[in-house]
Amino acid sequence: MRCVTLEDVFVHPIAQKYLKRSGIAHAIAVAYHAYRFALNHGVNVDLATKAALLHDIGHYEWYSNGTWDYEKYKQNDIHAIKGAERAHKLLIRLGEHPKNAKEIALAILLHTDSYLPEGELKRKPLQTVIKLADEADEEPGGKHHYRHIDEALALKKIRELDELVDKQLQKERLDYII
Ligand SMILES: [Fe+2]
Repeated sequence: MRCVTLEDVFVHPIAQKYLKRSGIAHAIAVAYHAYRFALNHGVNVDLATKAALLHDIGHYEWYSNGTWDYEKYKQNDIHAIKGAERAHKLLIRLGEHPKNAKEIALAILLHTDSYLPEGELKRKPLQTVIKLADEADEEPGGKHHYRHIDEALALKKIRELDELVDKQLQKERLDYII
């Protein structure tokens, strides 16, 4: 059994506050992509789905005169750094194992190149999975942040993903024993 589920994370007021800011529909879509990519890459689906769900919770609102200021965002954005820290704090508060919380935070920290100096970054498989999952849901002009999902449907999708994750972890445990 996992000590922290996606639902535990999703319904927490801190997660709700920041997930609403960067888009709940996007976060859930990326979590589902991460589940699939994790299976393909042999990565732990629990860590991948949690990191994906929380990957954008570090966003700040860069508005000038009521409209999104893309230039300001480009110049000043550190959402991956802030998101990693917020996710880590939230997960530890919920009772996540510190080792898992660190892996998830690092995957969030490295999910985008947009704020990093140019150069070759060698990502671990979990970190690659989160980057790929985010890119799979991206829409031109950042539209993916503004897609809407009904609240009840969002919770249903989170619960269904929790079930998929539990089944996969159980299957891996059985495979290991056999
Ligand atoms: Fe994203």
